[in-house]
Amino acid sequence: MPCSEKNLFPMETEVHQLESYNIPITMILFFDAILRYNIAHAKKWDFTALNLLCTEYLEHCEAQHLFEVILPAMVDLALSAPRLCTMPIPLLKSRMNHSLTLSQEQIACLLANAFFCTFPRRNSRKSEYGNYPEINFYRLFEGTSLRKVEKLKTLLCYFRRVTQHRPKGLVTFTRQALNNPPDWESSQTLLTRLHITCEGRIEDNGYGMLQVDFANRMVGGGVTGHGLVQEEIRFIINPELIVSRLFTEALEHNECLIITGTEQYSEYTGYAESYKWKCSYKDETPRDDWQRRCTEIVAIDALKYRHFLEQFIPEKMTRELNKAYCGFYRHNANVKELSAVATGNWGCGAFGGDTRLKALIQLMAAAEAGRDVAYFTFGDAQLMKEVHKMHSFLTERRVRVGKTRTPNLVFVVFLFAAVPVNASAIPSVTSA
Ligand code: APR
Repeated sequence: MPCSEKNLFPMETEVHQLESYNIPITMILFFDAILRYNIAHAKKWDFTALNLLCTEYLEHCEAQHLFEVILPAMVDLALSAPRLCTMPIPLLKSRMNHSLTLSQEQIACLLANAFFCTFPRRNSRKSEYGNYPEINFYRLFEGTSLRKVEKLKTLLCYFRRVTQHRPKGLVTFTRQALNNPPDWESSQTLLTRLHITCEGRIEDNGYGMLQVDFANRMVGGGVTGHGLVQEEIRFIINPELIVSRLFTEALEHNECLIITGTEQYSEYTGYAESYKWKCSYKDETPRDDWQRRCTEIVAIDALKYRHFLEQFIPEKMTRELNKAYCGFYRHNANVKELSAVATGNWGCGAFGGDTRLKALIQLMAAAEAGRDVAYFTFGDAQLMKEVHKMHSFLTERRVRVGKTRTPNLVFVVFLFAAVPVNASAIPSVTSA
């Protein structure tokens, strides 16, 4: 931790420097304080994107407010670490079924430290944290990409909100391993219900459901860097997700990370290159008895394919079935109480998977876990109709999960990829 007495670069050195300069903290002093604290990287790190935001994309009064009000308040938040985080943060190491609950205020403090890059030994893959995602935000400040400017606007919206009013809830992070996968070949489970639509997004329309994060094995993926697709977007509009990168080691093939309680602070438009921060968002999701927002997100990382046909290899399909099942199942749960899974084209964007195959794999995993599925095709009306037809074909014939296994899986997928579909303009379909 930055405030640890064992830290060779006591946080006070840098963060007090920010504080000791005459307020407002000017940009140069801000950069200088961060670089002096990370002296080994002083030659490499650049702050172009942050500079661009402040000089080109914020009104003068907004930039002034940032340096006169928000940054000093973030300094105070970062400096409150010794009071708020009185114990070292436990690590969710690989092959460890473990849960960690933090207050939203502790998370805000840790993220303020990440913004000022105060976490020691987290800027190099060679340290003992080499198998953990990056946590310090320095890569967010560099380069001229407008993606960074929009990401910074989104994150500063969060910091403005949590420095104005300290959040009062809790967030739980659970690392779950699947040590006894189902015997897929012999499964007698029938597919569960499917609602599929080409409209809407998981975070907007998956209210009350288990919402899937199309993750990287290093949770959060490129959120502190250039990345800006499904996972990174979810991590910056619900920035409390980012703190999982501080303590979650890379996910193994049979592991997932479940995060309960994060709050959404921003709304956005667009996607990837067209992503734009839109406005502050007031999350009205009710809280549970633990004062956690009733938003459950599961990070499951699909395999990345270099060759399209690689994903049809039985071992690869089994790995994806087990990964999805690991994210969807709950130990000793009453399946009648389990919410539906809100998912979509998991593994079919940056990771190059086939949407139909992945849809069927997720339908099978959700069925085995006793959950219905709400599937968002992200605008792909053709896919919506094909997956719906595939699901109807299998459920009308009461085909069991075990019978859908390889090689039938491949056959079923291609059967429906080829079948011409009546082009009735329906935005969504539900099949029991
Ligand atoms: N709701 C529903 N569907 C969505 C949403 C959303 N909010 N955002 C994107 N999609 C759909 C799009 O069709 C997209 O092409 O999901 C598809 C897959 O999204 P990706 O993020 O590309 O997921 P994946 O292929 O699994 O790649 C994962 O990307 O974000 C990084 O860190 C992540 O490294 C990991 C990789």
